[in-house]
Amino acid sequence: MKTVLITGGLGFVGSHLADRLAQEGCKLVLVDNLTTNVAAPEDYRNVCEVIVDSVENCQERLSGYRFDEIYHLASHVGPAGVLQHAGEIARATILTGDIATKLALSQKSRLLLASTSEVYGQTGTLHEDIDCVVPSKYTVRLEYAAAKLTSEIAALNKARVSDLFVNVVRPFNIAGPRQLPDGGFVLPRFVVAALNGTPLTVFGDGSQIRAFTDVRDIVAGLIAIMTGAKSNMVLNLGNPANEVSILKLAQLVVQISGSRSDIELIDPKDLFGPLYEEGTERVPDVEKALSRLEWRPQFSLERTVSDTVEYFRSRPELLRTQPLETAASL
Ligand SMILES: NC(=O)c1ccc[n+]([C@@H]2O[C@H](COP(=O)([O-])OP(=O)(O)OC[C@H]3O[C@@H](n4cnc5c(N)ncnc54)[C@H](O)[C@@H]3O)[C@@H](O)[C@H]2O)c1
Repeated sequence: MKTVLITGGLGFVGSHLADRLAQEGCKLVLVDNLTTNVAAPEDYRNVCEVIVDSVENCQERLSGYRFDEIYHLASHVGPAGVLQHAGEIARATILTGDIATKLALSQKSRLLLASTSEVYGQTGTLHEDIDCVVPSKYTVRLEYAAAKLTSEIAALNKARVSDLFVNVVRPFNIAGPRQLPDGGFVLPRFVVAALNGTPLTVFGDGSQIRAFTDVRDIVAGLIAIMTGAKSNMVLNLGNPANEVSILKLAQLVVQISGSRSDIELIDPKDLFGPLYEEGTERVPDVEKALSRLEWRPQFSLERTVSDTVEYFRSRPELLRTQPLETAASL
């Protein structure tokens, strides 16, 4: 039986990954400091060990295990969620990446680092081989992206001079059941508004392009990378077939949920403050992942939207959250 550590294990991706690995019979340890968790520790205590603490605080405790695999997912996340951690994101990202790397080295565990498509800092269809340039405008999202990139570089360089087994994944716009609107994620924001009968607020003119990837496809990709033969890879994970404009996504949510909500165009800086930034177009080139992994994304955008609608419909208590007002003071 494999022993697996998931940092950020009570988060959106981490909890779906924990479900899959528990089903496969792995012995799991989840570490999460409950800053943006979507699952509660008690939801998982009967299937695995849950450590409620920051990765930074539990190095000694983690050194007492023998992990075969480490998925390092813990991070500040979200287009609006990162804003309140401005100036702290780089330290936390690089430090936790370093801790995960050292743990993997000392225990000879396989390591997977969750990076982000934001490292590209560019718009368009993004392949792993394009340069990741650091622009001169120091936005909060750049702090997130640059720190993730630094973590990638450090871990991959460490693997050049040691027997560290590490791979890096750059996911593109993960979506699906359990994701909460609080971090500014667009699909749950729209679904909550549609089910509440309030307007779906689209930023700018809604022409921004994204390719949403179902969290269950991401989890399958993470496991495929972790259990594959190769180390030292950087791989995009995403579903270009799900490319859509944000305005069209709003229309799809209204249609699938049967809502009577209006769609309103607004300036996101009015809600999230002047620090808010977003790119115009981000679509993954996933040829590398398709050619190197036994992995194909399975979930259409319609299925992801419909499952997300059902998720919130069956949990009316989540519809009472008012994420935009909460974030508006930033
Ligand atoms: N959601 C996306 O669209 C997306 C896109 C690209 C990359 N990613 C990356 O995927 C990973 C998982 O993202 P997610 O969407 O599940 O986010 P999430 O916020 O749902 O999960 C992250 C979890 O980590 C925990 N956490 C944060 N800092 C911690 C720390 N220092 N110690 C312990 N726990 C900590 C949070 O409480 C949360 O439960 C992150 O590394 C993120 O950068 C996500």
